Amino acid sequence: MADSNVPTYALNDGSTLPAIGFGTYPLKGDDGIDAVLSALEVGYRLLDTAVNYENENEVGEALRRSGLAREDVQVASKLPGRHHAYDDAIASVHGSLERLGLDYLDLHLIHWPNPSVGKYAEAWRALVDLRSEGLVRSIGVSNFTEEHLIRIIDDTGVTPVVNQVELHPRFPQEQVRAVHGRLGIRTEAWSPMGKRNAPLEEPVVTAAAERLGVTPGQVILRWHVQLGSLPIPKSSSPERQRQNLDVFGFELTDDEVAGISALAEAEGRRFGGDPDHHEEM
Ligand SMILES: NC(=O)c1ccc[n+]([C@@H]2O[C@H](COP(=O)([O-])OP(=O)(O)OC[C@H]3O[C@@H](n4cnc5c(N)ncnc54)[C@H](OP(=O)(O)O)[C@@H]3O)[C@@H](O)[C@H]2O)c1
Repeated sequence: MADSNVPTYALNDGSTLPAIGFGTYPLKGDDGIDAVLSALEVGYRLLDTAVNYENENEVGEALRRSGLAREDVQVASKLPGRHHAYDDAIASVHGSLERLGLDYLDLHLIHWPNPSVGKYAEAWRALVDLRSEGLVRSIGVSNFTEEHLIRIIDDTGVTPVVNQVELHPRFPQEQVRAVHGRLGIRTEAWSPMGKRNAPLEEPVVTAAAERLGVTPGQVILRWHVQLGSLPIPKSSSPERQRQNLDVFGFELTDDEVAGISALAEAEGRRFGGDPDHHEEM
């Protein structure tokens, strides 16, 4: 079984996360267990799931089948919008632990702020309390704007360790990354390849891939690493899983990084929302 050579990021609560993780949406059923197990076998040590992915059972099962020690793998899940009320949030995390078959989560995120419901600050207080009890080691958020971040930090004095946001070459999120830098929050990237719109055939990507003798997917993930973003690519293919993890032995030039970031301007893209579930869930 491969050991992971992935570096780690220090977080604002004193813990660490691997610099790349494995996204598990929409992996489900036996094929889902196989894909997560293979990700662990090729060396991923951070798994990203969510209540809304309905695959926490599969993720827990893959972890058990891997034979890896619990403390060698970090498991992250997410609180859905429909569980933001304080007591619901507490019960929700107990439910996640039960489905995963774990007695603690390494990281738990508020999946969306759901500002129209207006209970994300309550949800954050619940996560702060769950952390004190040791049920969740680190707590963070996803899809939060600066305003949402400031509100929960002011309310509790606790800064999220990560904000997981949509981030890829066609949507590099400069402003959000600058806010994270100021607040001491690590940027985690969902849809890091760009999903259906991945720029795998863009000349700026293929030229760098050719120069370095790597694949276009590896170039995109290396771009994340050089931005300081923590990507969580999903792949069902063991070969692409392996490639995606192998992005720490080569370097893009500053011009290549800038050229890839400039794909966003060509696109003129605006925030596109979340493809994997609905905000009000
Ligand atoms: N917080 C949120 O609101 C939110 C929202 C969306 C997603 N997420 C999380 O982010 C994770 C990743 O996002 P995502 O799945 O939307 O997008 P992604 O990881 O950017 O893209 C996944 C797609 O890219 C393909 N792919 C992977 N590696 C490749 C490579 N090296 N070369 C070519 N194609 C490659 C995969 O196909 P194959 O499987 O065939 O390789 C899959 O179709 C999810 O699994 C989930 O955990 C979170």
